[in-house]
Amino acid sequence: MEKKILNKDIQNYINANLNTDLHALLLKKSPFPEVSMLEIVQQIKGKQVAQRKFPFLLKEGIIFPPQLSLEQSSSEKTAGYKSEILKGKRFIDLTSGFGIDAYYLSRNFEEITLIEQNPDLLEIVRHNWHVLEKKAEFINQKLEDFLDRNEETFDVIYLDPARRDQQKNKVFLLEDLSPNILEIREKLLSISKEVVIKLSPLIDLKYLVSVLPGIFRIDIVALKNDVKEVIVFLNNENSENISCNCVNLESGEPNFTFLFGDEENAKAEYSEPERFIYIPNHAILKAGVFNLISEKMNVKKLHPNSHLYTFNEKINDFPGRIIEMEEIDNKQIKKKEQFNIISKNYPLKPEEIKKKYNIKDGGEKYLIFTQSKKGKIILKSI
Ligand SMILES: C[S@@+](CC[C@H](N)C(=O)[O-])C[C@H]1O[C@@H](n2cnc3c(N)ncnc32)[C@H](O)[C@@H]1O
Repeated sequence: MEKKILNKDIQNYINANLNTDLHALLLKKSPFPEVSMLEIVQQIKGKQVAQRKFPFLLKEGIIFPPQLSLEQSSSEKTAGYKSEILKGKRFIDLTSGFGIDAYYLSRNFEEITLIEQNPDLLEIVRHNWHVLEKKAEFINQKLEDFLDRNEETFDVIYLDPARRDQQKNKVFLLEDLSPNILEIREKLLSISKEVVIKLSPLIDLKYLVSVLPGIFRIDIVALKNDVKEVIVFLNNENSENISCNCVNLESGEPNFTFLFGDEENAKAEYSEPERFIYIPNHAILKAGVFNLISEKMNVKKLHPNSHLYTFNEKINDFPGRIIEMEEIDNKQIKKKEQFNIISKNYPLKPEEIKKKYNIKDGGEKYLIFTQSKKGKIILKSI
């Protein structure tokens, strides 16, 4: 199909239908005998996803794979972040997929190898990289077979295991991923200085550290406060400490860095609400450093389970939102007023709160329903 789909008339048809209802389009007959409507719709979907996730591929001559491979791909933004961390001479991506990570991560390397078990997908990547004038060795093999025969060494091995099982349900135990990192870990570290693995944000960090020896760094990467990836770095150096970085891309917030285990000994200070309320970003909440953030950023916690913090002064380099607020009585909430509602450690969900107080959603102002040590409280932004 590949080359046929690039025919000018077919490409014009694809570009003219980028906003068409794809279900309706699928019911139609393809106007081109050489390609099916399914193939055309696949390209339209690809371009739609590319607009959101990897606009660098919105170029003439690029071919898109079926939806699953689009979904499994990293975004240009998170791949770009990883590319800044990694450099060396020889880079290998053992789970190339659509190659978004590989394209970015290999920026600071001289020799690039991509392994992918799916031959059609790898052919698409080979074609696209040719269009993008990027060179690599493309190997269509199961990575386990490649590793069995390989005699070369690398500076960085990258893996982004497939996170979907046969039923397409999300899974997040290492054993459920393809490949199973636990089975190939030793082999990987015997041929590379560093092994970098992208994992789902659903992975439990304590579990991860307990089952996977050799971790020296973990990055929790959010994009606009939506946690996208947990990136694990392994080497052979038996480091005593694991450095953790909470990153919130495109937020302007600083990274929050700590050593794994620091939370165990950290102590939070507590207070009733002061002038500013601090809401840590989701990368920090994912890391579970609820006491450490209080200790390191000098903000006081409202309640052991609320994960909201407060301080009289504004700490601009806090990794999260800072809202100037005052405590109010529920009688002070006016009907039909517009607020963004946050409910944390409170018995009612935002939807229920909206209904109860007859308030509208959105706008610039915030209402926080939570608990401090004295009990339930309501905070309103000033
Ligand atoms: C999550 S995707 C990778 C996406 C990629 N990082 C990107 O940004 O486009 C994982 C890929 O690994 C491939 N894969 C999974 N297990 C494999 C194995 N044992 N050998 C080779 N490839 C494998 C899958 O076919 C899939 O395309």
